[in-house]
Order: sequence, then C-alpha cells, then structure tokens
Amino acid sequence: MIFVTGGAGFIGANFVVDWLTPGRAALDEPVLVIDSLTYAGNLANLAAVRGHCGLLFERRDICDGSAVLALLRRHRPRAVVHFAAESHVDRSILGPAEFVRTNIEGTFALLEAARAFVAELCGAERDAFRFLHVSTDEVYGSLSADDPPFSETTAYAPNSPYAASKAASDHLVRAYHHTYALPTLTTNCSNNYGPFQFPEKLIPLVVLHALEGKALPVYGDGQNVRDWLYVGDHCAAIRTVLERGRLGQTYNIGGRQELPNIAVVRAICVLLDELRPRRGGSYAQQITFVKDRPGHDRRYAIDCGKIERELGWLPTESFDSGLRKTIDWYLASADWIAQVRSGKYRDWIELQYGAHVASTAEGTAQVLARGEKGGSEQ
Ligand code: NAD
Ligand code: TYD
Repeated sequence: MIFVTGGAGFIGANFVVDWLTPGRAALDEPVLVIDSLTYAGNLANLAAVRGHCGLLFERRDICDGSAVLALLRRHRPRAVVHFAAESHVDRSILGPAEFVRTNIEGTFALLEAARAFVAELCGAERDAFRFLHVSTDEVYGSLSADDPPFSETTAYAPNSPYAASKAASDHLVRAYHHTYALPTLTTNCSNNYGPFQFPEKLIPLVVLHALEGKALPVYGDGQNVRDWLYVGDHCAAIRTVLERGRLGQTYNIGGRQELPNIAVVRAICVLLDELRPRRGGSYAQQITFVKDRPGHDRRYAIDCGKIERELGWLPTESFDSGLRKTIDWYLASADWIAQVRSGKYRDWIELQYGAHVASTAEGTAQVLARGEKGGSEQ
C-alpha cells in the first residue's frame, strides 16, 4: 500500500480518486490517507471512492511523528506521497505561523518517522520504499518577462511565507536523502486547477463569484503570469515520478500554459457566458481590479523538460480543455460548494477582500434579475 498525506485536500483527493478508480490509474493497491482535516480538507472530496476496499483513512496531524511512525510500522507502505500542507499564499501573508508548523515542522516529523521506519526494513522492502514530497514552483521566486523558465537548478528565492515554508521543507527532504540516504523524490509544480479546489484560489473563487454576481477580484494590474497545470495531469506526473524517478532527484512539473491572471479571469467569463448566460451581458462586467497582494510574484514559468525527457510524462490538457472540465464540474457540484463554504469561509472572504467585495456582493438573483452592470471593468 501507499500512504497519502493531505489526501482529503484538492490535489491529494484527486490523486487518491484517480489511483483507486477503474478506468483511471486504477492501481490495484490500497491507500491510507493521513489528513488532519483543516478548513481545506474535506472527506466529501473522496466521495467517489467512499466504501472502496482499498481506501483507509486516519485523521492525524503530520506533526505527530510518533503517530505516523506507528502507522508506518502497522501498515508497512511502500511509499509516502506527501501532499499535506497549508497551501494558500494569501493566508500565509495574514498568518504565517501555521505554515511554518505544518509545512516545515510537519515535513520534518514525517521525514523522521520515515527514516526510523526505513532503518527497520531490509532487502526488497527497503529497496522499494519511496518518500515523494510534493512542492511548488513558488520556491524559485519571481521571473521577469524575458527570463527563462524555472529549471531544477534554478536557485531558490522564495518570496512569500508560503513559498519560504515550502522551500524549507524541500531543503529538509534534500538533506535527508544526502545525509541519511532516505529514498526521496521531490516534485515542484505550477498552479493546479480542476475539480475539488477550495474556492479561495483564483479559478474557483472567480467562478463562484461570477455566478453569485459578486466582484471578480483581480489583484494589481492583472498582468502577473502563472503557468496552469490541470490536476489530473499533475497526478499522472506524480505517479510517473513515484514509479520511475531517480532517487534524490527533483522534477519540475508544468502545464506549458503561461497566462496573465486577467486572461484567466476573462477565459472563465467567456466559458460561463456560454454555459450559464448572464442576463445583462457578459460576466466580464463583474471584473474588478483590487489592491495588489503584498510581495506579489510577477511571473512563474516552468521548464518541465527533465520529466518529459527522462520519464516520458507530458501534460495532456490544454488550458481551454482543462478549464471547461473544471467549470462543468463546479456548475454540477452545488452540494459540494455549499458544504465547503462554512461560516469560516465567509469569515475568510470578509477578511481578505473586505468591504469591497461585501459591498458588491449582491447575490446572483438580484444581479441577474436587474441585468445591471455588476463590476468595474471598462
Ligand atoms: P489543499 O490546501 O487543498 O489541501 C491540503 C490538505 O492537507 C488538506 O486536506 C488539509 O486538511 C491537509 N493538512 C493541512 N495541514 C495538515 C496537518 N498538519 N496534518 C495533516 N494534514 C494536514 O492543498 P493542495 O492545493 O491540494 O496542495 C497539495 C500540495 O501540493 C501542497 O503541498 C502544496 O504546497 C502543493 N502545491 C499545490 C499547488 C496548487 O496549485 N494547489 C501548486 C504547487 C504545489
Ligand atoms: P492563487 O490561486 O492564490 O495561487 P498562487 O498565489 O499560489 O499563484 O493566485 C493565482 C494568481 O491569481 C496570483 O497571481 C494571485 C492572483 N489572484 C487574484 O488576482 N485575485 C484573487 O482573488 C486571488 C485569490 C488570486
């Protein structure tokens, strides 16, 4: 079996569902999900495989190394795939402590548990074991328009507390391979999107705000560039690295889809105009430029030539096809949306976007019924 930390979050849950679902990866191998179920973790994300005999779940904090070690000894997995993290940059700006705790101390606790476990293994079981650490392109810092994309040898220059905490965890993973010969693999990927993404991140937030007649908040001038990777492609890349990656190596994973944020938001509006037309004109009327994120990285871009050359992985979704799948999923998932948007979610939106979004948050019914202009884009 394998362990998946953070398997009730966005990418972890997609990974687990793909792993266990016939017609997808369908690997005939059980998964134990370890997740403390923070605001971002949700067992509903695993509904498609609920009751599957290959799915086990333990509600644990990864910082509890002795509990993790006990689980390793009991289940003897061949791999730990480590997704669990605090993952949202804006939250890290408002409250970095939890990022240091989970992303650095939690990864450290997991590495210690894995090191103790591997020391007890021998022969084929020891040779087969892998610790795969899922990280981000944000560790490399910010690019200007004409810089080459990040490669695996780009120097680390994290700029947000989130990126710094992930960079620290990457360094710990590297050190555990170098010093203790822990069989590690690290992946650094670009911005993911797809089903089950918590609606604090750009794409789901904009989809839901659009449908509710709220402002679509674009930070700064909207020209910050991100590379967009469909979550299913990311999960396939992780499976590839897990099976064939070289020990101690890092692999960059990207979607080859660099776009400025304003283009992403406009693309969402165009699709929604087609799929759920808005009375009174395009959803683009709701686009609103808001105060920039402090320290907002200008551009991320990924050179994923290494994983393509060495392991033969390629992304299969274009941004257009992946975005259509994503929006279709949000349009069909009203129950899930209602469930994840608890009172705490509303508190977050109020704290992050404040009076501006609150004052323009008139609700779908009102805006659609009046057919008025709901935003401030020219
Ligand atoms: P997410 O925030 O949706 O999910 C994180 C999961 O980890 C949740 O289920 C949460 O309950 C769990 N968790 C948090 N703290 C925990 C703790 N202390 N103990 C146990 N479980 C805990 O995150 P995501 O978007 O799915 O990201 C998964 C991983 O991929 C993260 O490591 C993130 O840094 C990395 N990553 C994400 C993106 C992206 O675009 N989402 C891009 C690059 C890298
Ligand atoms: P986000 O989804 O938070 O991912 P990350 O910060 O990890 O890249 O943001 C993606 C981009 O969208 C980023 O440049 C910030 C921008 N953004 C907005 O313009 N408005 C928003 O409301 C959010 C959440 C993000």
